[in-house]
This record gives sequence, structure tokens and C-alpha cells, in this order.
Amino acid sequence: MLNEKIAELLNQQINKEFYSAYLYLDFSNYFYDAGLDGFGNWYKIQAQEERDHAMLILRYMQMNGMKVTLDAIEKPSVELTSNLGVLEAGYSHEQYVTGLINTIYAAAHDVNDFRTTQFLDWFIKEQGEEEENADNLIKKYKLFGEDPRSLYMLDNELKARVYAAPSLVI
Ligand SMILES: [Fe+2]
Repeated sequence: MLNEKIAELLNQQINKEFYSAYLYLDFSNYFYDAGLDGFGNWYKIQAQEERDHAMLILRYMQMNGMKVTLDAIEKPSVELTSNLGVLEAGYSHEQYVTGLINTIYAAAHDVNDFRTTQFLDWFIKEQGEEEENADNLIKKYKLFGEDPRSLYMLDNELKARVYAAPSLVI
């Protein structure tokens, strides 16, 4: 049985991960609408990964005897006004999520809930990768996004991203 506060934080995180999926689906739609199918594809896969994160936490809670309560998912709140603006919003969202994961980790550590800290190790590492990926997209866009031909090539590169289910076994 997990500590009540930890269970509550994990339960909230399920909602935040689904929100992230929703937000990135919104980003994906924005790019598809703009004719940038590669960016649209990249964010569609990102959305699938966020849904996976939610399901991993849900499964972890169930395996540890905690009841999961599904709350309403907020409407995506980022205003999508420019390509670069969307990418930058993606990066700051990942930084925000890293903070959320760190908060749960610290709370679990405080109550010696090492099963949860061990479970969250994967998320800590994942957040590092998510931030790096988001930052890389911004860098690439700044380098190549202003020239239509190089933007076309960058978009094609992002089209190649394929979805892979997480290998995490819990
Ligand atoms: Fe996530």
C-alpha cells in the first residue's frame, strides 16, 4: 500500500500526462494544418508517448493496490501562433513536467517509499531525454526553419519518426 500523499500525486500525474498528450495532439494538428506533416507526425508520436506515461503510472498504482480516479482533462491552453512558438511551448512544458516528476520523487523519498523512487527513475531519465529532444527541435528550427528548402528537408526528417512502445516493465 502506497502512502496516501504519494498516491494522490501519482493520480494527479496520470491526469497531467493525459493533458500532455492532449496538448501535443493540439501541436500536431497545428503543424498538419500548416502543411508541415513531419512536425505533425513528430508531435503525434509525442502524444502517444505521453499517453503511455499515463498508462504506466496507472498500472503502477493498480499493482500497488491504489484506487485510480480519473479527472477531467483540461483543454490545451497554449496559444499556437507561430511554428517556433509552438516548439518553445513544447520545451517549457517538458521543463514543467520534469518539475512535477521531481516533486513526486522527493515526496516518495521523504517517506522512504523506495519502490516509487525506483519506479520513477525511468521517468527522471525520460524527462532528460524529452527536454533534450524539445531543445534540439528549437535549435534545428532556428538553423533551418527560415529557409523554405531547408525547412522542407527538416520536415521530411521528422516524418521518419516512428512510434515505439516504452520498454519499461513494471
Ligand atoms: Fe510524459
